Amino acid sequence: MLKRAVILSLIITLFLSLVQFNLQSTYGNKIDYKKIFKNECVKCHGMDGKGSERGKNLGVPDFTDPEWQASVTDEQLIASVTNGKKKMPKQEGKLSPEEIKAMVKYVRMLAPKKRR
Ligand code: HEC
Repeated sequence: MLKRAVILSLIITLFLSLVQFNLQSTYGNKIDYKKIFKNECVKCHGMDGKGSERGKNLGVPDFTDPEWQASVTDEQLIASVTNGKKKMPKQEGKLSPEEIKAMVKYVRMLAPKKRR
């Protein structure tokens, strides 16, 4: 009876460490886009992507507007974030190309989920 409990707990421990390992390799080295957004972008674009007071005065688009989302391509957004666009400060040299791509993905995630 005791033996069984030991074996069972060994199996559980092994299983849990496998799950943890998988989670780590999936999320471990990911770019922390939320942190970058908070530090570099929120002052103009706002936490929700609609635009802060300051951002609205500068003419930021509303990232939660599906029409705006549909009107721009990823390539265009990557180019705008990299090189800047009018009042949008360029991020080249500040963020790596991988980080910029991740930021554009994040901007896409701010769009409202399509209802089914
Ligand atoms: C100083 C304010 C400011 C900051 C900081 C800022 N932005 Fe912007 N952003 C703007 C403005 C203004 C625009 C609108 C540019 C235009 O089309 O006139 C814009 C536009 C954009 C666009 C749309 C570009 C397009 O092609 O239409 C994206 C995407 C974007 N910003 C992402 C970011 C990300 C990601 C960060 C942080 C790394 C960031 N912005 C930081 C002001 C800012």
